[in-house]
Amino acid sequence: MELTIREERPDDCRTVGELVEAAFRPLVFSDHTEHLLVARLRRSEAFVPGLSLVAEAEGRLVGHVLLTRLEVVAEDRSAATVLGVAPLSVLPGLQNRGIGSALLREAHRRAVRAGFGAALLVGHADYYPRFGYVPASRFGIRFPFDAPDACCLAAELVPGSLGGVHGTVRYPAAFFGETPEA
Ligand SMILES: CC(C)(COP(=O)(O)OP(=O)(O)OC[C@H]1O[C@@H](n2cnc3c(N)ncnc32)[C@H](O)[C@@H]1OP(=O)(O)O)[C@@H](O)C(=O)NCCC(=O)NCCS
Repeated sequence: MELTIREERPDDCRTVGELVEAAFRPLVFSDHTEHLLVARLRRSEAFVPGLSLVAEAEGRLVGHVLLTRLEVVAEDRSAATVLGVAPLSVLPGLQNRGIGSALLREAHRRAVRAGFGAALLVGHADYYPRFGYVPASRFGIRFPFDAPDACCLAAELVPGSLGGVHGTVRYPAAFFGETPEA
């Protein structure tokens, strides 16, 4: 299966929504609103043009990943900008064939080219370490959720980029269902 990873285009948005919904549909830990999250983030100030990527195979979209801006706010209220990876989706019938890996690796490359040094996410503790993610707590970064430490992850896309970055992750309002810009 020949795979192309490319930037999402405006006419992909509907199919991306369907794909994301399908990817999370079987998951019991999901609230099944990830496709709505993607739509809100696209319209938000956290959106970074060029960091919503699709995987295309045989003329159809089979995967998607979105990286958006996040802040890590320290106790002295200084804030560092990083990226949040959410969500990462592969069509159920095509999982475990390297599509998610290809999307995430390409997203990391493009993020570095766009000037970002680090990415954070809450996700599968068994999946993300292979891409360089480690518990964010090692950097002194906390997430504002009651999630297991092993799932609250951070990766330095540029070595050393999280040196001196610590505090609590501040998600944009769009993450919580608010759309102030809409
Ligand atoms: C998780 C997901 C993005 C991975 O993409 P993928 O294309 O299926 O995975 P890849 O082919 O790149 O990687 C396959 C490896 O990931 C592992 N893997 C796949 N899904 C996993 C999961 N949910 N948890 C842990 N490991 C997983 C496989 O066991 C396999 O491991 P191996 O290489 O050691 O054999 C995809 O399965 C998916 O869309 N799942 C539903 C939505 C989801 O859970 N998104 C991520 C939320 S954090």
